[in-house]
Amino acid sequence: MTTNPPPIDSMLLRKTLGCFPTGVIVVTTLGDHGLPVGMTINSFSSVSLEPPLVLWSIARSAPSHGAFRTHPGFTLNILSDEQQLVSKQFATPSDEKFKGIDWQPGFKGTPVIQDAVAVLQCKTYQVYDGGDHEIFLGEVVDFKSSDKKPLVFYNGQFVDLATDTSTH
Ligand SMILES: Cc1cc2nc3c(=O)[nH]c(=O)nc-3n(C[C@H](O)[C@H](O)[C@H](O)COP(=O)(O)O)c2cc1C
Repeated sequence: MTTNPPPIDSMLLRKTLGCFPTGVIVVTTLGDHGLPVGMTINSFSSVSLEPPLVLWSIARSAPSHGAFRTHPGFTLNILSDEQQLVSKQFATPSDEKFKGIDWQPGFKGTPVIQDAVAVLQCKTYQVYDGGDHEIFLGEVVDFKSSDKKPLVFYNGQFVDLATDTSTH
């Protein structure tokens, strides 16, 4: 007789996953009538250099999901530690997410947000099933970076890297 694993406690799992610090990104695309669409994510990972591939995942239930499914590309804007408010603005469903945001059209018109630490413009390469999420794999077609400090998310909150105790 096989024994079933114990049921997963989603709250505990969420807390455990929060032990992994991440950067914070606003991923953008264009939606209906060419309107800008964007959402805050931290599910980013680099995947491959040749070809240059990166991934992130989106909740199937997210209002912005359809736009990312339809448009052929997206832009990943890696936020700086001065863009915490931008992160919050893009983490709340709204038709006015781009209000007060300075941006320029990038690959296939997808918004490049001003003052991001780094930007990766991508062509959608593949979309995979990821349970209640879908995993988007993008081929990087253009990119830029700067020396700005990134915004960091850890344990369910933004943390300050200002006290740099790293060793080299
Ligand atoms: C730090 C942070 C990271 C997030 N990461 C993701 C993510 O990787 N994937 C996702 O689907 N939602 C993520 N969210 C939640 C979305 O930002 C939120 O559901 C947003 O409202 C989605 O945009 P929409 O309502 O326009 O679809 C994250 C939120 C925060 C604050």
